[in-house]
Amino acid sequence: MAFFTWEDRYSVNVSEMDEQHKKLVKMLNDLFEAMLSGKGREVVGKVLTDLVAYTKVHFSAEEELMRKNAYPDILAHKKEHDALAKKAIELDQKFHSTKMSLTVETGNFLKDWLTNHILYTDKKYGQYLNAKGLK
Ligand SMILES: [Fe+2]
Ligand SMILES: [Fe+2]
Repeated sequence: MAFFTWEDRYSVNVSEMDEQHKKLVKMLNDLFEAMLSGKGREVVGKVLTDLVAYTKVHFSAEEELMRKNAYPDILAHKKEHDALAKKAIELDQKFHSTKMSLTVETGNFLKDWLTNHILYTDKKYGQYLNAKGLK
C-alpha cells in the first residue's frame, strides 16, 4: 500500500502544477518504499536527494508562474517555499553527514508539509489563476 495516496482534493486546478505535485507524491512514496524495504543508506540517500532537488525545481516553477501572472501574494508564498526548502536541505545534509536514519516521523513530516502547503497555500494561486481563465 502506498504511504501517500494522491486525492482529488489536493488539486489546485492548474494542470501543470497538479502533475508536479503528483510527481512529488510519487517521490515521497519511493522514499518510503526504499526506507521500509530495508534498502541501504545509499539508495535511501539518493531518493532523498532527488526529492529535495525536485522540490526546488517545483518551487521555482510555481514562483515563475506567479510572477508571470502578477500574483499579489507571491512574497508570502515564496517565504513559505524558502522555509520548506531550507528544512528539506537540512534533512538531506544531516542524513548524508551523520548516521541519522529516516523514520516514519520524518516521512510524516514531509507528507504533512507537502499536503498543508498544497491545501492552504498553493490552492490560493489556483483560484487566482482560474479567475483569470488559466488552468
Ligand atoms: Fe507552493
Ligand atoms: Fe506546490
